[in-house]
Amino acid sequence: MKAKSFIAALLTTTLLASGAFAANLSIVSGDTGNGREFLRKQLDRFEKETGNKVSIVAMPANSSDNFGQYRLWLAAGNTDIDVYRTDVIWAPQLADQFLDLKAAAKDVIDQHIPSIIESQTVDGKLVALPMFTDAPALYYRKDLLEKYKKPVPKTWDEMAATAKEIQDAERTAGNKSMYGYVFQANAYEGLTCNALEWVKSSGGGQIVEADGTISINNPDAAAAIDRAKGWVDTISPKGVLAYTEEEARGIWQTGNSVFMRNWPYAYALGGSSDSAIKGKFDVAPLPVGKEGQNSAATLGGWNLAVSKYSKAPEEAIKLALFLGSPEQQKERAIELASMPTIKALYDDKDIAAAQPLIPNWKPVFESSVPRPSAPTKVKYNEVSNMFWSAVHDTLSGNGTAAENLELLEAKLTELQGGSW
Ligand code: GLC
Repeated sequence: MKAKSFIAALLTTTLLASGAFAANLSIVSGDTGNGREFLRKQLDRFEKETGNKVSIVAMPANSSDNFGQYRLWLAAGNTDIDVYRTDVIWAPQLADQFLDLKAAAKDVIDQHIPSIIESQTVDGKLVALPMFTDAPALYYRKDLLEKYKKPVPKTWDEMAATAKEIQDAERTAGNKSMYGYVFQANAYEGLTCNALEWVKSSGGGQIVEADGTISINNPDAAAAIDRAKGWVDTISPKGVLAYTEEEARGIWQTGNSVFMRNWPYAYALGGSSDSAIKGKFDVAPLPVGKEGQNSAATLGGWNLAVSKYSKAPEEAIKLALFLGSPEQQKERAIELASMPTIKALYDDKDIAAAQPLIPNWKPVFESSVPRPSAPTKVKYNEVSNMFWSAVHDTLSGNGTAAENLELLEAKLTELQGGSW
């Protein structure tokens, strides 16, 4: 061991009187709302149980920004971060930078939903341990739908018509800041999720299919994206082109939107005591684009990965196992409405009582649509970037969906080369 890294290792690892090693660990946190305080509470418990110290490294909430930063840190062999929180789509791209958790997790793997474990397994290596899963909902204002005698919309067109009618009537009644629909249309991973839902539920496929075929350049996909273009600056604020989850939730939770597309975390926050819409909203599956199609919810979720550059890998693995354990997932489900990856927790009475969304959302999760990260492997981020850019251009009025999807197809074909 080189002298410098030996001293660094000594600094990170202190020998306790008991003979056990205690490490100074760090974990990233892009948490929003009360998520960071919640994490701190769990870390405090881990510290007490193990004698380790864990510090939080604050990250942006935007998934794409995290990915860029992680790549830089990992490429530089950064030893300052021990545990990374990874988006469900990243396993194939970051697999080489993380430790294999298979052996350490062998006794708990069977507790998790198998498809999630599979999504985090690359060439037999368990790249990350699931922490929670995610499947979006259409949030709607129960009080407003009742007031205007409207049903919960089943199609995107119905959603837009109801949104417009209620928005206009509320504005006329003096509620000037009311909008019909808020969603995520910033140029980032969240737009890939939203647009995949419009396209898939309209019969337009999944961008790149499971067998690697590039399918996005088709009339159903184009119609779905053009339809969404019609929402910008009519039922949705023009600023939606810069919205991520949190900007959408900001409008929604202050009572200024009839509908919102968002993940389950907004359910817990919308029901909190300081929320203007507490008791006034509910959730439904996302609308359908075309008759004969099913509602499509993009599969999301976050995992715990241990950096291969960690100076205290064993303690870092303990931390990942701790945060992914049934006890911690249960608490996270109750307090933050994070959907567990532990099968048994979907039958847990305490979770059902605190967050009824969770057991109700199991079928939505089970039929959710994966982004094409498995077929495009290490190129997924570029594929997604090209897709969200084509969609963002269309929503911004730079070309029609048909034009932009044709260009996208050419770019994807070039990126693919002979095979993914
Ligand atoms: C949520 C999902 C994640 C997705 C992101 C997009 O955090 O869990 O999978 O990539 O939203 O904004």
